[in-house]
Amino acid sequence: MIAIIFYFSATGNSQYAAERIAQATNDRVISIGLALKDKHLTFDVSTEERIGFVIPTYAWTVPGIVADFIQQAVFSSNVSSYVYAVLTCGENTGKEAVALHSLLKEKGIGLNASFDLVMPDNFILWTDIPSEDRLDEILASADETIDQAISTIIDKQGNFSDSQLPEDLFMPLISISSSEGTSKFFATEACNGCGLCQELCPMSCIELNSENRPSWEGLCAMCLSCLHRCPVQAVQYGSETIGKTRYINPHVEDRLENIY
Ligand SMILES: Cc1cc2nc3c(=O)[nH]c(=O)nc-3n(C[C@H](O)[C@H](O)[C@H](O)COP(=O)(O)O)c2cc1C
Ligand code: SF4
Ligand code: SF4
Repeated sequence: MIAIIFYFSATGNSQYAAERIAQATNDRVISIGLALKDKHLTFDVSTEERIGFVIPTYAWTVPGIVADFIQQAVFSSNVSSYVYAVLTCGENTGKEAVALHSLLKEKGIGLNASFDLVMPDNFILWTDIPSEDRLDEILASADETIDQAISTIIDKQGNFSDSQLPEDLFMPLISISSSEGTSKFFATEACNGCGLCQELCPMSCIELNSENRPSWEGLCAMCLSCLHRCPVQAVQYGSETIGKTRYINPHVEDRLENIY
């Protein structure tokens, strides 16, 4: 009996959820970010008992990087597995499940169940990270939702019903060519040139200059990994993020392996 969980995670919420489900089900996890970076895009899922997608919500729909992965990936045909999605979000998932269903359908994969999982909101351009106490409450409530999802997944129950498609199936990848002066990302004087932002960027769009100072160029997934994971909080996005608290899911913050 084998089963697989695909996940994408910039700040660890979806990674944590995927790993907790995997612990309970003995399923194996595959990082979408690493698969894209390694160009490992062919998957024989014909014998999988279950297939899971644990992904964040971007602009009430599927992150562009996840859509890109699904569109590029070659899955084996005749997929008859039980397929579920766990959609992490800061507030609500909008029409993400329907959009994901539509993307998967193109690959001959159905969607049996989907679970909305409210977790700390990492989109600090528009919001602030809550107090420690509030974070603890959100994470405790998320654990309860994950437990309920695990029971449903193990019992292979369905709860997904198709509804009206959103206008945008996925959040477009944003072109932030710094050479054209459109990038709002920059590193402050606090940058120590450690190179972590470049190493972690799932889109490989951060370059270090001869003084090890990063610049942003190319197609960005807007995942905010570089911004939240910089050890000295040097990465800013315009003036929107100055002085704001950063966030990494506390259950996975000490581990850099398997991120995305
Ligand atoms: C570009 C972007 C857009 C987002 N849009 C939404 C949204 O529409 N609704 C919502 O509830 N949360 C939204 N969020 C918050 C994330 O979905 C949420 O924090 C998620 O758990 C992050 O997952 P991760 O830690 O695995 O990266 C957004 C985050 C980012 C970076
Ligand atoms: S992670 Fe932060 S400190 Fe390290 S190179 Fe990038 S901006 Fe500089
Ligand atoms: S530049 Fe930053 S926000 Fe954009 S894809 Fe890379 S890590 Fe994510």
